Amino acid sequence: MLAIDTLWEKGKNFLGTRYPIIVGAMTWISTANFVARIANEGAFACLAAGNLDPAFLRKEILKIQSQTTNPFGLNLITIAPNYRRHLQLAVELQVPYIIFAGSYPRGPEIKLAKESGARVLSFASTETLARRLIDMGIDALILEGSEAGGHVGHVSLIVLLQQVLFQVQDVPIFVAGGIASGRLIPYFLLMGAAGVQMGTYFVMTEECEAHPRFKEAFIRARARDAVATPQIGSELRVVAVRALRNKGLDKFAELQIELIQKRRRREISHEEAQYQVENFWVGALRRAVQEGDVDYGSLMAGQSVGLVNQVRPLKAALAHLVKEAEEEWQRLRKLCKNYL
Ligand SMILES: Cc1cc2nc3c(=O)[nH]c(=O)nc-3n(C[C@H](O)[C@H](O)[C@H](O)COP(=O)(O)O)c2cc1C
Repeated sequence: MLAIDTLWEKGKNFLGTRYPIIVGAMTWISTANFVARIANEGAFACLAAGNLDPAFLRKEILKIQSQTTNPFGLNLITIAPNYRRHLQLAVELQVPYIIFAGSYPRGPEIKLAKESGARVLSFASTETLARRLIDMGIDALILEGSEAGGHVGHVSLIVLLQQVLFQVQDVPIFVAGGIASGRLIPYFLLMGAAGVQMGTYFVMTEECEAHPRFKEAFIRARARDAVATPQIGSELRVVAVRALRNKGLDKFAELQIELIQKRRRREISHEEAQYQVENFWVGALRRAVQEGDVDYGSLMAGQSVGLVNQVRPLKAALAHLVKEAEEEWQRLRKLCKNYL
């Protein structure tokens, strides 16, 4: 029994896990094998649906269910073309937790998910949105700061804590973005969080099936190398993704300049230019993760990449986090006693 068990009980009970630590879904990285291993180690893992072929996703879900009896989540991208079929699959296969990502779920989608017996989570970036989702029946929220890897909002976690976590106490809230040390965890719990969600930290485990070159790039990178995709001017819209700087990112900036110039010379329509911008990164994360194309692929990573510099077994990575959290909590308790 750990002293911190009492502090993080709410999150543990909600997730049904030993630790209220969510390993966030990572497209192409959060495969069935990885998810099952994490679940068996006592953390909470999410299978990333991305835009997978539904038949393949079905096999992945069944694989997890055959490898663990512990709970896990399915992360659905609500703007993916296959989203509706993914949601149906989650309902049919009775996935225990459904996490809506990408954009926000609509009322009937939340209802459908809940009627299957699943607990439902969603990302919320403002208090208004959090309250709307709670009114629609969402069971828990994820508050993710712009320090995180992957698709990001514009506001850092330190501000979101004040804007949302301090205002909303109705459902468990898991905080994410920039976390790579267990020492931080007791502080978030004291502020009212139910637990944390982390991504980048867990890429650096032996069980993560990402290409060795992907992990090597993480080892070399400093925090400031994980940048949000640049948008040149305001004529073309760019969806922000935090990833490591590489040749692909430079080429993307050049493409935007070229397209803006073509637009001004009326050589291309706005729709065509916007399409080329959106099409640029299609398949780029898969190329980086599976083929090790670190030059032109998308090396999605959070700023916490500057805090991780070794690949180790999942068990050790998790044990390290828990040990740090427990030691910090013990230290804090002693410290507080001196002031009481
Ligand atoms: C390579 C990569 C892929 C990701 N893919 C997804 C995804 O498919 N769905 C999602 O909701 N979040 C995705 N994320 C975000 C993570 O689930 C998690 O919230 C984030 O990594 C937390 O920030 P951190 O990296 O600083 O720990 C991704 C993150 C990374 C690094």
